[in-house]
Amino acid sequence: MQVVHTATELRAALAGATETAFVPTMGNLHAGHIALVERAKRLGRPVVASIFVNPLQFGAGEDFERYPRTLAADCGKLEAAGCDLVFAPDVAEMYPVPQTYAVHVPEAMANDLCGAFRPGHFSGVATVVLKLFNLVQPRVAVFGKKDFQQLQVIRDLVRQFNLPLDIEGVDTLREADGLAMSSRNGYLSAAERMQAPQLQRELAAIAAAILAGERDFAALTATARRHLNMAGWRVDYVELRDAATLAVPTADSRRLVVLGAAWLGSTRLIDNLDFAPDADR
Ligand code: PAF
Repeated sequence: MQVVHTATELRAALAGATETAFVPTMGNLHAGHIALVERAKRLGRPVVASIFVNPLQFGAGEDFERYPRTLAADCGKLEAAGCDLVFAPDVAEMYPVPQTYAVHVPEAMANDLCGAFRPGHFSGVATVVLKLFNLVQPRVAVFGKKDFQQLQVIRDLVRQFNLPLDIEGVDTLREADGLAMSSRNGYLSAAERMQAPQLQRELAAIAAAILAGERDFAALTATARRHLNMAGWRVDYVELRDAATLAVPTADSRRLVVLGAAWLGSTRLIDNLDFAPDADR
């Protein structure tokens, strides 16, 4: 496996490649990321992973500085997983001049769900992903469904700009107690780690109630928020949406997704569960 740090080295390493499968990451890799690499290996070659903690997608007061940087360990995991090439630029390489051009994510998406609590986040994500796609020129790129809204933004980006690649979403990998794998789980204290699976349990309870025929979505999400608040979480949102569009569900919604974001202490966790309310009955 080759590790490169500059766009010039990347271009040389990928000369002539037309079937590249790409896994963009911010590093601090866990089994969820490795599942993305495994999927990428089935979709194309070479498999390229990027490792870059993107300052554009972090707001003031967020965890950009303390986000774990573990390049050597990450490269070991990627090599063991059969990745062919790692692109690990620094900030000056990705942004040699101030990034004054940016992807405009429509307000309805940019300011919804996580965007409502992280102003500018999705524009920062879309901008760096567009740059990475231009650098790597993959035929397919693989993203985790844990960042469900991010995946929607990237699908829209590809569609709206006619980018010549496919986007593949991979199911969330979970710990034995149901907690969605995330680099941010490492911030949790022992007590918070014990409590963290509650977010997934509340989302699962909403899905189960809907599958059992309950249709008062507002009451279900309010109950989940109340349970989390009572247990000491600070809830950003628990929402039910159409899984295809992330809009408020209608009678025509074939798949739903219940999404949640909440804080345990100084750690913000997100999770979601998508399901077909009628087909699964
Ligand atoms: O999901 C992530 O790790 C990041 O948001 C991404 C897609 C690599 C862009 O920085």
